[in-house]
Amino acid sequence: MKPATSSTTSLWLDRPEPIADEPLPAGDHLDDIVVGAGITGLTTALLLARAGRRVAVLEAGVVGSLASGNTTAKVSLLQGTKMSTMLRYQSQDVARAYIEGSLEGQQWMLRFCDDHDVPYQVRDAVTYASSPEQAATVTQELEATQAVGLPTFAMANLDVPFPSFGAVVLRDQAQIDPLDLLSALVEQIRSHGGSVHQGVRVMDVSWSGRRTVTLEDGSTLHADTVVLATGYPILDRSLYFAKLEPTRSYALAYDAPAETIPDGMYLSAGSPSRSVRDVPTADGGRKLLIGGAGHPVGRTSSERAKVDQLREWTARHFPGAVETHAWSAQDYQSHDTVPYIGPMPRGGGSVFVATGFDKWGMTSGIMAARSISAQILDEQPSWQKVMSTRVTRPSGAAHLGVINAKVAAAAATAAVSAETRTAPAQPAEGEGAVGRRGIVPVGTSTVNGTTCAVRAICTHLGGVLTWNDNEKTYDCPLHSSRFAADGTVIEGPAVRPLKRLETEEEPS
Ligand SMILES: Cc1cc2nc3c(=O)[nH]c(=O)nc-3n(C[C@H](O)[C@H](O)[C@H](O)COP(=O)(O)OP(=O)(O)OC[C@H]3O[C@@H](n4cnc5c(N)ncnc54)[C@H](O)[C@@H]3O)c2cc1C
Ligand code: FES
Repeated sequence: MKPATSSTTSLWLDRPEPIADEPLPAGDHLDDIVVGAGITGLTTALLLARAGRRVAVLEAGVVGSLASGNTTAKVSLLQGTKMSTMLRYQSQDVARAYIEGSLEGQQWMLRFCDDHDVPYQVRDAVTYASSPEQAATVTQELEATQAVGLPTFAMANLDVPFPSFGAVVLRDQAQIDPLDLLSALVEQIRSHGGSVHQGVRVMDVSWSGRRTVTLEDGSTLHADTVVLATGYPILDRSLYFAKLEPTRSYALAYDAPAETIPDGMYLSAGSPSRSVRDVPTADGGRKLLIGGAGHPVGRTSSERAKVDQLREWTARHFPGAVETHAWSAQDYQSHDTVPYIGPMPRGGGSVFVATGFDKWGMTSGIMAARSISAQILDEQPSWQKVMSTRVTRPSGAAHLGVINAKVAAAAATAAVSAETRTAPAQPAEGEGAVGRRGIVPVGTSTVNGTTCAVRAICTHLGGVLTWNDNEKTYDCPLHSSRFAADGTVIEGPAVRPLKRLETEEEPS
């Protein structure tokens, strides 16, 4: 199914890595430390640096390593079925505030792109019914978006090569190459005196007094404020892990005849999700970008099967398209679909967090950056005040219960699955599994010729891990931490690696 020549790096990250700044001296004191070099962290850092503050961005991987470098990068206020879903959990005032903040995010980004020669394309955004059953959902989205003031309209027939049964459309939205944007943000941070450090994982932030940030090598840095722009928040004290739903989804890029690629940015109104957009290429051509097949992290029997379903769908509706890149990433939905942006509870007003963008962080990430930087500078946008004072309604409280029930069920399923099999000693190349050795779950895998065994217990809160057969990683079905086959942390909330074992060693 997967062509041998297809890259597993995202279309956007398939370029030389940005150059990192020299490490900061241990013990250095900054005005602000921003953790995470995705769209949220870099925009926050730039806004603070422009205000004359001394800012450093600390990034565990490279710029854009997680969601921001692996997104489909539609910069739109029509966001699938977001508005009709949000209005189930929140008041119209809160939903309007969210749209206002997202519009500010979108406008800021496009102004920044204009000012710094970052290309983008203007496209109509379309939420379409992929089955007759989804037509009612599309109508609900039309009504919800109009209720919050968006100039959406209905379209009965789409000129697209895949089945559609009516759509809601918002004209003149945008799409970008996110790495063009992130690279320009890094350059601007530097030109305003800030710095961006790659390969620096933050392990902890002190909870009182002057903020002390502890790095993986045990050294520390200090700052007046710390912004956690890490996707999933890395500190547990505010229990975000009990309120977020992580979804992993897939993207594929294709060379395809330009005339077969539709002009808009399309997203289906239901499951299985399908996202379609084009990507202009340097030679004047266009690539096709397909996304979707999302599922809760670590809770599917085969990730490879999910991405193959997306490949089959593309082959059916875009015959002749040739896959060039395949990748995946994850993002998080809050219990009431409104992002969590602002000071962390019990953080003394100087530790900030931004998460819960629900796969709409191209606008929400900048909305968060605008909000957090303003709060650090002693202001607060009016739309943020409305979002911050939202209350959890009964529907939101019920959803919290559902999130935690699903976590409990996933924990039990993973534990039973590990208990009922024995960990293989020598898996075939590219294979891995979690099984029992003694009484402890152990993961064994062979990746790129190296056979490795790890204690398959998540270092966050002890979830039993599952093997991701698409990416050759161990994924946690509880709160979505992910680890490489050798146990290295890929993404949090976990910050500590898995214990490596000798291949036959019985773990303690
Ligand atoms: C498949 C997919 C498609 C999407 N499509 C769209 C779309 O079309 N439109 C849209 O608006 N949004 C989309 N999104 C969502 C959007 O990409 C994200 O919401 C957004 O990129 C989140 O940005 P961020 O900066 O908050 O997080 P991230 O980009 O995930 O950045 C967090 C950074 O923090 C770093 N980090 C984590 N822990 C540590 C630590 N302990 N120490 C140091 N660094 C750390 C990570 O390495 C990472 O680089 C999509 C998401 C996915 C997964
Ligand atoms: S991510 Fe929380 S237990 Fe694994």
